[in-house]
Amino acid sequence: MLLPPTGSIVMLTGAGISAESGLATFRGAGGLWEGRRAEDVATPEAFARDPGMVHRFYNQRRRQLHDPAIRPNAAHLALARLEADWPGSVLVVTQNVDDLHERAGSRAVLHMHGQIRRMRCTACLEERLWLGDLDTLTPCPACGATASLRPAIVWFGEMPLEMERIMAALQSCDLFVAVGTSGHVYPAAGFVEVVRDVDRAHTIEVNLEPSAVRSAFAECRVGPAGSVVPTLVDELLAGLR
Ligand code: OAD
Repeated sequence: MLLPPTGSIVMLTGAGISAESGLATFRGAGGLWEGRRAEDVATPEAFARDPGMVHRFYNQRRRQLHDPAIRPNAAHLALARLEADWPGSVLVVTQNVDDLHERAGSRAVLHMHGQIRRMRCTACLEERLWLGDLDTLTPCPACGATASLRPAIVWFGEMPLEMERIMAALQSCDLFVAVGTSGHVYPAAGFVEVVRDVDRAHTIEVNLEPSAVRSAFAECRVGPAGSVVPTLVDELLAGLR
């Protein structure tokens, strides 16, 4: 695939890119929402109703990231290589709350659904890195309030982060690739439509199976991200020679 070397690339990633690192996806068999309703865990209302349960769910997700077996896989590493070697801009927009892109070496990463390794105080709005568990008794290190800390992630019904920068990048990109996302959650599922209005831009979906919005993409590459993404990155970089 030939792109101008100054071309801008936006990579949207979802839970599927971290699946081969050992982190569960949300939907489908074995997914985090299997046997649960997302609204019972991932909403401000669920947190108000049962903060202990919501904290336990996210504590578990945060602890998993301390497991040395959970590491960036070939797809994360390929995206970091693309950022390092591509002369134009490469932006990763991720729905994932894990830090595997950063650990792989990507620097231009926007976490539109926030980050599990950060907390926010709903009393004083302090936000900072937080590697341990959270519970309703944990005092805010900034203001001392209790029952005020929450994971710094975006729940259903809340505004995704960084939308202005994301929209600007989508509207000026030459290539948009969505990796490992089921296309069920907006606004991310609608990003391909934004890019479709950019005449020169090419769009590719990389997924184990066609997503709910597959028909909006010009091209679909079916397979595991850990092998499809490195091949795609090789092709892009080969086009520079
Ligand atoms: P999903 O769990 O909805 O979708 C993951 C997608 O990745 C599915 O289409 C899988 O087929 C695909 N997949 C699984 N393993 C793969 C692999 N090795 N290679 C490539 N694809 C693979 O996850 P998301 O689309 O990321 O939000 O979910 C979006 C949002 O819904 C999440 O950010 C989260 C969730 O509820 C909130 O909690 C607010």
